[in-house]
Amino acid sequence: MTSKSLIVDYSWSGHTATMAKALQKVSATDLIDLTVADDTFSTDMFATSKIATQQLASDQLPALTNELPALADYQTIFVGGPVWSGKVSTPVRTFLSQLGSYQGTVVPFYTDAGTAGDYEADFQNLLTNASFKPGIGLSGDQLAQAETRLKTWWKKFN
Ligand SMILES: Cc1cc2nc3c(=O)[nH]c(=O)nc-3n(C[C@H](O)[C@H](O)[C@H](O)COP(=O)(O)O)c2cc1C
Repeated sequence: MTSKSLIVDYSWSGHTATMAKALQKVSATDLIDLTVADDTFSTDMFATSKIATQQLASDQLPALTNELPALADYQTIFVGGPVWSGKVSTPVRTFLSQLGSYQGTVVPFYTDAGTAGDYEADFQNLLTNASFKPGIGLSGDQLAQAETRLKTWWKKFN
């Protein structure tokens, strides 16, 4: 395993993508935006919430449409996503389920509308062999200062 790091993020409405770009700037790390098929979710938040609830109930997580690099090549993976019902969104759950035997360190970053719930605990529970390191969440009104906040966090993180 090398000392390389990778940022991946799923973003339904662009907030986490903004945070991911700021993290990329601060950390000078490669970034991959995770995607799902266009017809997976609705453009409406409540309809999307219903779809995600059904996915969880039926244990049918949405497939990612990205090709991912060999994850074992990265020592640390920063995984970003929105908070959905206080928990990890289903596309991010798909990514975490694909980590399988990955043994590096995984760090969550996330955006919410003010109620992150038990996001980090839920995230940590989804890891099998990887190590967990606490991450950072920003709510919508903090996104304008994403880079400044991430710079401060990054100094402490390293
Ligand atoms: C299905 C769904 C569930 C959500 N649940 C929460 C929640 O529990 N708490 C919260 O603060 N925001 C919640 N939100 C708002 C998003 O977390 C917030 O807008 C986030 O910044 C969106 O990030 P994105 O643009 O990267 O998708 C929810 C949004 C959606 C679509």
